[in-house]
Amino acid sequence: MSKRAVLSAIGLHTPAERISNDELVATFNDYVHRFNDQHAQAIAAGEVTALAESSSAFIEKASGIKSRYVLNKSGILDPNIMHPVFPARDNDALSLQAEIGVAAARDALTRAGLQGSDIDMVLVANSNMQRAYPAMAVEIQTALGCSGFAFDMNVACSSATFALQTARDAVLSGSAKRVLIVNAEICTAHLNFRERDSHFIFGDAATAMIVESDDVLVNMHQGFNIIGTKLWTQFSNNIRNNFGFLNRCEIDDDPLSNDKLFVQQGRKVFKEVCPAVGEHLLAHLQQHHIEPTQVKRFWLHQANRTMNELIGRRVLGRDATAEEAPIILDRYANTSSAGSIIALYLHHADLGQGDLGVISSFGAGYSIGSAILEKR
Ligand code: COA
Repeated sequence: MSKRAVLSAIGLHTPAERISNDELVATFNDYVHRFNDQHAQAIAAGEVTALAESSSAFIEKASGIKSRYVLNKSGILDPNIMHPVFPARDNDALSLQAEIGVAAARDALTRAGLQGSDIDMVLVANSNMQRAYPAMAVEIQTALGCSGFAFDMNVACSSATFALQTARDAVLSGSAKRVLIVNAEICTAHLNFRERDSHFIFGDAATAMIVESDDVLVNMHQGFNIIGTKLWTQFSNNIRNNFGFLNRCEIDDDPLSNDKLFVQQGRKVFKEVCPAVGEHLLAHLQQHHIEPTQVKRFWLHQANRTMNELIGRRVLGRDATAEEAPIILDRYANTSSAGSIIALYLHHADLGQGDLGVISSFGAGYSIGSAILEKR
């Protein structure tokens, strides 16, 4: 029988600190009042537009988000700072992003019954990398004592499914036996906490997945067979972050301006991405002769509750139940590539042998990815 690629274990690192909508809105509104007071004359003269307050009720209604985990709460909630604050680390110390990635990876390794040295390929797949090079993946490879090779990849919120396909291809081609995928997302560092439309969107978290060839599995009954993966991209400026190495060279541009953070046209994203994800999932299932109703669980990207409800309806032709399409964004907010994997981590224990599930991520690019899993 031909070789199979198995998602044998998943790991999660959740930061210790948490911010509720009320706490976030209090800081935002404090900033708004200060701004409006400071510019009162210009606002009265019609030269400056007064800023409007944010509200917890809006955030929960528009997104489904109630709170988020963050790596630094005090900086985000300080109206004079309004971003996470991290002490700089020496080049010889483990970097922050590698640290949370290693924590998630250790969880996955323990669950797979493996040591770091059993891994021969490491992928770090994130929306944002802490630096250009050396690769975060090589740092994590060394920190865990993995062999083989490692590299970084970035497909924004879809990074996890794109990495899953890369890992599966590597295992099936024989270029690796055991692949560690890390999604270490420090989303609060690219979020503009002074922008009313989006200041509530993101949280921080790291996930890890181990993809193995079935002929090296420690426990034959563990994890999921990866039945198939499917990826799609199409260029769009509706989710964009202009941060990059050319910023300091671009004449007449401010390297710290707001477009060097996350910027989106949320309505357009909503309208364009939901139908595309629905079509993508239906086409992927059809390729494998699977009816949507045969799928026990959809671990969808966690950006917006209504988006997930729409996608569920489009795929199933009716509302998905909370068990069929679990929501974790109420507690985690959007954790970019980690979101669908957190849903998988927290909502798979009840599945039985042969049960089918689908991971689906979507986001900037645009990008959409899916992986069909079968419980072993
Ligand atoms: N507090 C109170 N009111 C707010 C607000 C806030 N923080 N932010 C916006 N509003 C107001 C707007 O001013 C607008 O008022 P108006 O109707 O009087 O003009 C109203 O709320 C609706 O704003 P809108 O931006 O249209 O909200 P929305 O329903 O589209 O929800 C998002 C905004 C961002 C939650 C939603 O568009 C979304 O989630 N989009 C997809 C995001 C996504 O998946 N991104 C991918 C990232 S990887």
